[in-house]
Amino acid sequence: MHPKTRFEPTRIAPETFLIHDHQGEGEGPVSVALNTMVIRAAEPVVVDTGMMENRNQYLEDVFSLVEPEDIRWVFISHDDVDHTGSVNALMEAAPNATLVIDWFMQERMGASLEVSPMRWRWLRDGDVLDVGDRQLRLVRPPVFDSGTTRGLFDPLTEVYWASDAFASPMPVPVRDVAALDLVPWLEGIHTFAQYISPWLDLVDEAKFQRAVDRIEALRPQVIVGCHTPVIGPSHVGDAIAATRIAPSATVPPQPDQSVLDAIQAVLGEQPLVTT
Ligand SMILES: [Fe+2]
Ligand SMILES: [Fe+2]
Repeated sequence: MHPKTRFEPTRIAPETFLIHDHQGEGEGPVSVALNTMVIRAAEPVVVDTGMMENRNQYLEDVFSLVEPEDIRWVFISHDDVDHTGSVNALMEAAPNATLVIDWFMQERMGASLEVSPMRWRWLRDGDVLDVGDRQLRLVRPPVFDSGTTRGLFDPLTEVYWASDAFASPMPVPVRDVAALDLVPWLEGIHTFAQYISPWLDLVDEAKFQRAVDRIEALRPQVIVGCHTPVIGPSHVGDAIAATRIAPSATVPPQPDQSVLDAIQAVLGEQPLVTT
């Protein structure tokens, strides 16, 4: 078993930290980041809650940055399992936190969301979350795989949380996209965009560009998200440009049944594990 690379949280802006996780290392040709974020605003905010499998390390990382009772807001960018894995555990451990979701998110999560409705707030694209010393803006990214998706822009630090957008696979886990080769990184953005948003080829080109314009107009200094290493100031322009052409880019096909046949053939040759 390949030992999992461990990254301590990365400070990406004043009082703003990316918490790292990833999967696929040592198993596939690439690994994929599974990040979350903490903003130590006047009213501290936790952004997304990672995978269930990483709960202990995730909670340890969050609480290394902010005391549980000081967390005021837990923002969920959308209701996929890689963003909600520890939402119930975190809300139980953080008695003063309000959960920022929306109506459709709680509908889709159903009974899996164990947080009292008395602790919810419903905010959608275009809304604002006042966290005492700044007003965080909810801005939907141009690429997404759930209709509930809202990104989060901090006007004080100019950091944009992109949820699943601007994502790319990594040959090996890295903290920052500056550590990746430029061309494969940009191709990875194309591929990820088409895989998570296969509807991109149905979209009117001008309307899609306006959705990207909306992010560019924020003038983010740093873009972070669940599935990308940190995109710093020198790489933000490239990430936005790559997203603009993602709908028409040629990307590798997803593995199909023939790949599964090959995997199963290898697995079938391995001795059965008996207990
Ligand atoms: Fe997603
Ligand atoms: Fe995701």
